[in-house]
Amino acid sequence: MEVICSPRRIQTLALKWKARGRRIAFVPTMGFLHEGHLSLLRAARAAADVVVVSIFVNPAQFGPKEDFNKYPRDLEGDLVLCRKEKVDVVFAPARKDIYPPGFSTYVEENDLSRDLCGAARLGHFRGVATVVAKLFNLVQPDLAFFGAKDFQQSRVVIRMVRDLNFPVKIEVMPTVREKDGLALSSRNRSLKGEARRQARCLYRSLVLARKLVGEGKRLAGEIKTAMERVIKDQPLARIDYIEIFDTETLRPQRRVNRRSVAALAVFVDKTRLIDNLSIWPGRLSLKPSPEGGGPSRPLRGGC
Ligand code: PAJ
Repeated sequence: MEVICSPRRIQTLALKWKARGRRIAFVPTMGFLHEGHLSLLRAARAAADVVVVSIFVNPAQFGPKEDFNKYPRDLEGDLVLCRKEKVDVVFAPARKDIYPPGFSTYVEENDLSRDLCGAARLGHFRGVATVVAKLFNLVQPDLAFFGAKDFQQSRVVIRMVRDLNFPVKIEVMPTVREKDGLALSSRNRSLKGEARRQARCLYRSLVLARKLVGEGKRLAGEIKTAMERVIKDQPLARIDYIEIFDTETLRPQRRVNRRSVAALAVFVDKTRLIDNLSIWPGRLSLKPSPEGGGPSRPLRGGC
């Protein structure tokens, strides 16, 4: 496995692979890898000749009051995991190589980015779209893997790829969860004791929404109120948003149908968690991680 920090080097290599007709699968990440990320790496490994993983905590997608500096980092630990998953190249650039002095070109998706996390985190999806577009130009992937846990992000990326004609196929993989349903996230490491216990309320409220739809309830308002109650029962939890929306347009719905997704963002103590679930009864994608343990590795520096 090769670790590359230089944008020029990864692009030259990618163009060489392409000229030789090799299929490139790409998994963009911000590191501190857990089983959710690893599920993407495995899907990528199964789908292509060359697997590239990027590890870059992207400052452009964090607001001024958000947790960029506190975001967990452990490049050494991540490299061990990538090696185990037979990744070919880890691209771990420095901030100055992705955003050189005078950087002034951004990619903005202006429809699907507006609501939900886009309203709660102004500029967030501009930062995501910009870095993903840059990474696609550098890595030249045929396929790129994203997680359904960041549902809105996956939709924004799919729209960007369509609108800007990137020659890449986006695959969205199911959310990997702890045994109690909590979606794996690099941010879970800051949930300690009681906060970790109360963090279960996100998944519990989503499952309740799905159950209510199964019982015949259709009014989104009624279902959201029930979800809200589950969260408000937990003293450390503070709702950022709870929404029921159409899976394609991301527009809020008044009545639930088979395209409905419920999503929520909740601060548990100081940690902002997000989760979502398709609430039309059918297959439930609870996929606990094999270890059932969350990320608990220490903070370390990046590339
Ligand atoms: P990060 O949060 O590191 O996530 C990288 C990828 O892993 C994303 O596609 C995310 O949806 C997926 N992922 C995270 N938790 C998951 C889980 N529990 N189950 C399945 N997939 C999961 O998302 C980002 O980084 C950044 O915004 C990025 C796209 C890299 C741009 O900077």
